[in-house]
Amino acid sequence: MNSYQNPTRPNSISESEGLPGWTYFSPGLFDLELEVLFYSHWQFVCHVNEIKYPGEFVSYDIGAERGFVIRDSANRIHAFHNLCRHRGSRVVSGKRGQCNKVMVCPFHGWTYNLDGTLRGIARRDTFSESDFSNLGLKRIEFEIWNGLIFIRFKPGKQASISEIMNRHTREIQPYGLDRMIASPKGRITDRIEANWKAVRDVDNEGYHVPQAHPALNDLYGKDYHDETMKGETSRSVGRFTPGPRKHWSVRNYLNILPENNDLPESHRNIWLYIGIFPNLVLGFYPDCVIFYQEIPQTPTLTLQRGGVFHHKDESREMKLARYLSGRIDRETSKEDSMLSVWVSEATKSSAYDKVIFSYLEKGVLSYHDLLREKLPVTKLDVEPATPQLQDLNDRMLSAVT
Ligand code: FES
Ligand SMILES: [Fe+2]
Repeated sequence: MNSYQNPTRPNSISESEGLPGWTYFSPGLFDLELEVLFYSHWQFVCHVNEIKYPGEFVSYDIGAERGFVIRDSANRIHAFHNLCRHRGSRVVSGKRGQCNKVMVCPFHGWTYNLDGTLRGIARRDTFSESDFSNLGLKRIEFEIWNGLIFIRFKPGKQASISEIMNRHTREIQPYGLDRMIASPKGRITDRIEANWKAVRDVDNEGYHVPQAHPALNDLYGKDYHDETMKGETSRSVGRFTPGPRKHWSVRNYLNILPENNDLPESHRNIWLYIGIFPNLVLGFYPDCVIFYQEIPQTPTLTLQRGGVFHHKDESREMKLARYLSGRIDRETSKEDSMLSVWVSEATKSSAYDKVIFSYLEKGVLSYHDLLREKLPVTKLDVEPATPQLQDLNDRMLSAVT
């Protein structure tokens, strides 16, 4: 079989086509994607053990939305918009930190309890309002799955994260993700000058592994496969190939990696990836669990955030193996970033025409199918005009001249 087939897809685009070029740089579509995909789909923020103590918080910003999760003094977790009810300042600053008993707004000093209720107002007597009781921080919906905290800025049609992940829950249970801690050294944020979908497209297939990723190819190149998306998740597996290794990190990783007896034998020699629509991938390795996530900044700029979770009481060998798997991943992500930039740039070229896909790239196409389902406008070959704003501006201009 050398072409991708999905007889159930109800649209006019040939089954072997990807998204048209304009969808990778259109500002109008970018705004729509934020609304339709990112604000109303679950966004991963952090592991519960990253906010272990009262007052600890981790923030998460995307598009126009700013959020954070925090633990209160009764050990409960909350998710809030990071927006002071006075004049909109951030209440907590930075990517993570710890508040001391209360959150103090850095602008005029309003204070909030760790459960988000308003506690104190500087110079209260200078306000004409008498009732401040409804001015607690605005809540964001959140859900915890296997120790991972997800937030959703706007209610969407998407199911709960535990329903979405249901088909994977049994498989990942032996990894003990909910008991893991985050490695501070494993945190990375890369700036990629590419549309977020180009980054996702590169990641959604393994056809490029033998050519583009010498280390990964050495690790599992001969036995890697992607499954098409089912629901809102994808699954890919790379099984370590036996034989001599050329790559230093891979050779040492496989020599040092101890047998992980918590995992069934079938999972002791694989890297298992689970993609969660639209922008998260979890990687389950014998030595740790990793994640990476694309956070769109502009139509042609994406931040990719990543991190590593591991068991606190891991052996020295396991720690060393984790260090080496991290080296392999850093190398891979540099290679992927370059490819994402090139693919994204190409979509603007006058020479950009239809791209074609191998069966081995079916992960890209099944992801595009889901995008087309949620954003049917991406089926159009030519970018539709987004005249409303421009029209209004033009009309206002002509009214004053
Ligand atoms: S904006 Fe927060 S106290 Fe004024
Ligand atoms: Fe890659």
